[in-house]
Amino acid sequence: MSTVKKAIIPAAGFGTRLLPATKSQPKEMIPIVDKPVIQYVIEEAVDSGITDILMVIGKGKRAIEEHFDHNFELEYNLAQKGKKEELEMIKRISDMANIHFVWQKELNGLGDAVRYGRLHVGNEPFAVLLGDTILDSNTDKPVMRQIMEVYERFQASVVALEEVPKSLTYRYGVMGGQSTSDDGLYKVDQWIEKPRPEDAPSNLVIAGRYVFTPEIFDLLEVIPTGVNNEIQLTDAMRLLLKSQDMYGLHFDGKRFDVGNKLDFIKTNLLFGLKREEFREPLREWLKGLEV
Ligand code: G1P
Repeated sequence: MSTVKKAIIPAAGFGTRLLPATKSQPKEMIPIVDKPVIQYVIEEAVDSGITDILMVIGKGKRAIEEHFDHNFELEYNLAQKGKKEELEMIKRISDMANIHFVWQKELNGLGDAVRYGRLHVGNEPFAVLLGDTILDSNTDKPVMRQIMEVYERFQASVVALEEVPKSLTYRYGVMGGQSTSDDGLYKVDQWIEKPRPEDAPSNLVIAGRYVFTPEIFDLLEVIPTGVNNEIQLTDAMRLLLKSQDMYGLHFDGKRFDVGNKLDFIKTNLLFGLKREEFREPLREWLKGLEV
């Protein structure tokens, strides 16, 4: 039985929805409390058992590379000052996993970004985690692990699903399928990228975490350009359904799309409230707001 050890994290997009904050810094480096978004994503992957990560980056994304590299000057400085806790925190980031980088030459869509991972992944199952999305699990099990366990059971591709109001399906990849006897688990028979509400096969949408069998790479080579004139991963997934089973898991947790301004503000507040040292002072301050 094979398991998933490698992951691709697409992180090349411009982050236009967060301008001007993203004019000169990657959206993946925007902090939620004191950690950049991308660190939450990598931690989720590592805590799920992923040991090898390929990040697909583009112009203006060097800060991501630097964040996961050693910073010897800073480490020396912290050691000199006896700041042990900070030193450990900084070192841990660069020791978390094997992280590799590849540059997406043109921004031709999510399907194109995943294509860049082919050489790295080879003939193995692999995970995809979107670099601007935090998935917060309701249990001790990270969402990526929940998805990987479905893969391990069926040896088939699996996608994390989230429920949205039907009026919002036009923003997502949407699943059509049947529920199974397992809670939250669906056998998929359709994928459509960004359908109008009247064309959406359900209100269960792709939430930015996937496990694929390697056959998806062949299909990414043959699909035509799709919605928004981009190579859509969802189109290759629809084609994969013709030859393989696929599953969708309505995961136990919540998605935070940090590329969206309102979600970004809410995520910061919520994650601040989750931290013991900030909970009480933040709650007091929020109660006292006269807005
Ligand atoms: C991408 C995917 C879509 C998915 C979404 C989740 O869309 O194409 O299927 O539902 O991420 O965030 P994008 O947000 O890049 O338009």
